[in-house]
Amino acid sequence: MNLLIFGGDNLKITIIHGQSHKGSTYYIADMLAKKLGGEVTEFFLPKDFHEFCIGCTNCFMKDESVCPHFEQLMPITKAMDKADVLIFASPVYVYHATGAMKVFLDHYGYRWIVHRPNEAMFKKQAICISTAAGAGMKSTNKDMADSMFFWGVGKIYNYGVGVHAVSFKEVPEKIKSKIDKKTTSLAKKIKKKNGKITPGLKTKVFFYIMRLFMKKGWNQSDVNYWKEKGWIEKKRPW
Ligand SMILES: Cc1cc2nc3c(=O)[nH]c(=O)nc-3n(C[C@H](O)[C@H](O)[C@H](O)COP(=O)(O)O)c2cc1C
Repeated sequence: MNLLIFGGDNLKITIIHGQSHKGSTYYIADMLAKKLGGEVTEFFLPKDFHEFCIGCTNCFMKDESVCPHFEQLMPITKAMDKADVLIFASPVYVYHATGAMKVFLDHYGYRWIVHRPNEAMFKKQAICISTAAGAGMKSTNKDMADSMFFWGVGKIYNYGVGVHAVSFKEVPEKIKSKIDKKTTSLAKKIKKKNGKITPGLKTKVFFYIMRLFMKKGWNQSDVNYWKEKGWIEKKRPW
């Protein structure tokens, strides 16, 4: 884990790097974070978390605190919960996010709207970033964006770059210049929207469908959670 302070706006940014090395994907995520400015907490996978979900389903059926990896995940969970902006970055490995990223996201299945979403997510912005030598950015970003959507994240951006290289040193100048422009425009949009996020219609419709299930009877720990939050009544997480 690294904690960095960049000048400018006072955003809290958490970056989950789907790789432990600093290549093209790292470079883009870092460039965006610098342009956003603020307090950056970053984690590198698998270096900072590398446990596989063992499929015990304790998180769904009982509580996430009984997951065998709950304590190990705690620093990352806390950093994500307090962030205004989440950056998920992964190189494309055989058309998908890295195994380390997938393994990490598996641990937050209990946070999907169908179970027990964290209300803070509905007001956050997330950016999914991927790089490939040539192709696979769309499916890789989807691997990460699926979790963002089902966590209830209010606004999700996807940025995929075909860098035509396997190391950042070899990325052509023309592509670097495009990355520079795109990260500037993304940072501008994100900063403008900070603090004004409400989720889109698709998220709200999905939430209301799940609310019906919770009212009728569903997994008991999920129903209890929704009741405690007041979401079965009039309260909403946004
Ligand atoms: C195991 C592995 C699988 C890869 N699969 C693909 C792929 O499916 N499509 C592609 O265009 N590039 C693929 N690449 C190339 C990387 O996605 C590409 O070089 C990326 O920019 C590397 O990012 P990094 O510098 O952050 O590590 C693969 C590389 C590795 C190591």
